[in-house]
Amino acid sequence: MNEDIKLTYHVTTFGCQMNAHDSEKLRGVLEAEGYVETDSERADIVIYNTCTIRENADQKIYGRLGRLNNYKKSNPDMIIGLCGCMMQQKEVAEKIKNSYPFVDLVFGTHNISDFKNLLNRVTESRKRVFEFGSEDNSDLYEGLPTKRKYSFKSGVNIMYGCNNFCTYCIVPYVRGREYSRLPNDILEEVKRLADDGVIEIMLLGQNVNSYGKTLDEPVSFAKLLSDVCRVPGIERVRFMTSHPKDLSDELIDVMAGEEKVCRHLHLPVQSGSTAILKKMNRIYTKESYLALEEKIRSRIPDMALTTDIIVGFPGETDADFEETIDVCRKVEYDSAFTFIYSPRTGTPAAKMPDKVPDEVCHERFDRLLKLVQDKAAIRAKLIEGATLPVLIEDKNREEGLVTGRLSNNSTVHLPGDESLIGQIVDVNLKECRGFYYFGEMV
Ligand code: SAH
Ligand code: SF4
Ligand code: F3S
Repeated sequence: MNEDIKLTYHVTTFGCQMNAHDSEKLRGVLEAEGYVETDSERADIVIYNTCTIRENADQKIYGRLGRLNNYKKSNPDMIIGLCGCMMQQKEVAEKIKNSYPFVDLVFGTHNISDFKNLLNRVTESRKRVFEFGSEDNSDLYEGLPTKRKYSFKSGVNIMYGCNNFCTYCIVPYVRGREYSRLPNDILEEVKRLADDGVIEIMLLGQNVNSYGKTLDEPVSFAKLLSDVCRVPGIERVRFMTSHPKDLSDELIDVMAGEEKVCRHLHLPVQSGSTAILKKMNRIYTKESYLALEEKIRSRIPDMALTTDIIVGFPGETDADFEETIDVCRKVEYDSAFTFIYSPRTGTPAAKMPDKVPDEVCHERFDRLLKLVQDKAAIRAKLIEGATLPVLIEDKNREEGLVTGRLSNNSTVHLPGDESLIGQIVDVNLKECRGFYYFGEMV
């Protein structure tokens, strides 16, 4: 065999932006070890970075594992690895151990910093490796190599884990306790990224508003955000996710005053019913949420507001659901992710009485989706004809077109070539086509 032929790898990400960013660290390690990335899952090493937020996320992984097994039949040396949130559940790891013998490596959300060693253990011993570290290792994340998907933008973790324990949510159990990185470590990372050509930063945490509260020298998220805007070379700053319970006036001031902070706020409401919000342990009420939304929209009128909504939480009555509809009518979200409640083993809501029947969930879901889409279309139309800066991100599938994003996160397609990728250009939004725009550079 030719020694120069390099082994290939592929990392497939499921789930949220945190997982996507963790995958960039996995890729960084694989590259440093000399493996070469390929687009296909017919690679020598395939890693699935899994999500378990809803039941169908788990089903998707089990479904796709069969396909990987087939690939392995034609490449018996192939290494199949699983990591991420789904693997943090003991019963899942057991099931993989017993029923999926072709999986070589399984590790948890606290083992990313140890990925290189785990992989070497598998390649050297050809034995199966199952490893689940404790969350005390979290600070070992510092300084890991990463391979970014885009040269010009990057996620940056500002905190790990979650302490909120919303009663439906598995994240606090699979990601562990909330832990904020030191502001200097974050700023150093942003500076390094800027030196490497990054112009857009996405600050990542399950609830960025609680950033820094438990540090020895507490720092607010608003302060961190404005410091990140000061880093030379950084043009745009986004963040995800903001919990409505503790979004401060200081943060609204920074968002309003800093041009570099993108005009997009993801503010998950989950339900419009105060009674359901209480059962969800969300801490805010319908009224306090609406008051917050009004405060933000009146201070920053061009701020796009997006949200997450769960339909069919245990005990949700028709009247509760009408409250959710009412919030969506009033707020007119620029876009909304809507989900049917999915019970997660080990969470308090999974044991709550009064499950909502499937047909009712689906009826409510369809009605809600129609409303949020209608409202989003009205909002999108408002800036048709305007000229706004667009960060060009990709070639379009259609020849001669490129695709980029507005500060408010909307997608714009326009004539242009690859040389524009990574640049911010002024674009006239000639036509609003539902949820995206067709524009032209001016
Ligand atoms: N930290 C973020 C949410 C992360 S999970 C926040 O607090 O907003 C992303 C979304 O998945 C949640 O906002 C919620 O709408 C949805 N979700 C979480 N658990 C769910 C479940 N058990 N069933 C259905 N949707 C769920
Ligand atoms: Fe889940 Fe709530 Fe934490 Fe978000 S804030 S990750 S919904 S527990
Ligand atoms: Fe999924 Fe884990 Fe994110 S459960 S949504 S990948 S934190």
